[in-house]
Amino acid sequence: MIKAVRGTRDLLPPETALWNFVEAAVRDVFRAYNFQEIRTPIFESTELFARGVGEETDVVAKEMYTWEDRGRAESDRGQSLTLRPENTAGVVRAYIEHKMWDRGLNKLYYIGPQFRRERPQKGRYRQFYQIGAEVIGPASAGSESPARDAEVLEMLSTLLDRLGITGWNLELNSVGCANDRAAFNEALRKALEPVVGKMCVDCQRRAVTNPLRVFDCKVPEDQPIIEKLPRISQFLDEGCRKHFEQVQEILTKVGVPFSLNDRLVRGLDYYTRTAFEFTHGALGAQNAILGGGRYDGLSEALGGPAAPGIGFAIGEDRLVMSLQESAPAESVLKKPDVYVAALGEGMNGEAARLVRELRRHDLVVDLGDESFRLKKSFEAATKAGAKYILIVGENEVKADAFALKNLATGEQVSVQRADLAKKIRQ
Ligand code: HAM
Repeated sequence: MIKAVRGTRDLLPPETALWNFVEAAVRDVFRAYNFQEIRTPIFESTELFARGVGEETDVVAKEMYTWEDRGRAESDRGQSLTLRPENTAGVVRAYIEHKMWDRGLNKLYYIGPQFRRERPQKGRYRQFYQIGAEVIGPASAGSESPARDAEVLEMLSTLLDRLGITGWNLELNSVGCANDRAAFNEALRKALEPVVGKMCVDCQRRAVTNPLRVFDCKVPEDQPIIEKLPRISQFLDEGCRKHFEQVQEILTKVGVPFSLNDRLVRGLDYYTRTAFEFTHGALGAQNAILGGGRYDGLSEALGGPAAPGIGFAIGEDRLVMSLQESAPAESVLKKPDVYVAALGEGMNGEAARLVRELRRHDLVVDLGDESFRLKKSFEAATKAGAKYILIVGENEVKADAFALKNLATGEQVSVQRADLAKKIRQ
């Protein structure tokens, strides 16, 4: 038997109803905040992630699905391609490629699969789904303003409320800008020098290439050392500090609760200034339901013009997991309004005609087969969870009136063809 590859999974009904419910709700919220959908390719050139996300990040260094393209054309051969591990780099590439700055402030969202070769566990997959959004544009369009950060965070709290997800915690930090980073890296290197020999090999490498990434370390023995390292919050320049204060002021004003976490540096290199994660207690070890932040230099790093931006990605798998407790999939599943039973030879055609009419009235209709007996039809209708069963037999067709039975109450009436849709909807 061939099975789904480790770290991937099939999403089956009725759970898919919950996924659709989530996606419909977020699309609604995105619309209210004037975000529009963007769809970028699932694979991109490897260089995009190396330059965008950063060579020293775990995502790029260890977790990407990368291959060398084959093919006849000179232009294809040997090109290094990668399944997207995240979507921000792709969106910013598209922003540059389509000169989207002409439209001022761009508010874009996406829903789709991402790929990381991580160790699979509860809430962590190798193919997982993200619902993300990005606000990007020239600073003159207001993209740099702390008002954007606060708006994005307020939208997220609205979205989680709307889905009925309670018990989340917004963790907030500022990781500063290029100015602060130079001084901070210098201080980190100094602090690491005497202790790094006792740390894991990854940290020893990070200490040289990109010391900030030491904060990504999950090795328990390294944690006491990391606890004592300087924090980026001590190195913010005047501009970054003010920016961060304003974000917090607006959040307080609109009533979005948050807590400061000065260890939060996020696992991707493009972040500047505001960085955040929403965690949820019920999720276990993989408790980050979403993460995001500002990336004011990313467009330039990818060869584009200055275009400050901020965004986030929700782990949809984890969002659905936290929702499953409050809303079982059955509760959002649209069950058939009616099950149409064709009773007797030659009735398949008559039933098909009737079903076609009912479906054009936007009813959810399930259909049996003329080989079924009455008992089997009732069983099938009950299994499908239909509200009504409708009998299409020879006598009914002749009279152009059909037996309609409410499966919950047992009440049965005969209804004229023309009145069927109305009666079922009642
Ligand atoms: P990220 O923190 O790498 O950020 O991923 C965002 C969310 O995706 C995580 O909080 C988690 O819920 C989910 N996630 C990540 N990896 C997995 C996995 N292996 N299995 C299941 N869920 C996972 C980003 O990807 C950034 N692009 C977010 C962003 C947008 N920043 C600015 N704009």
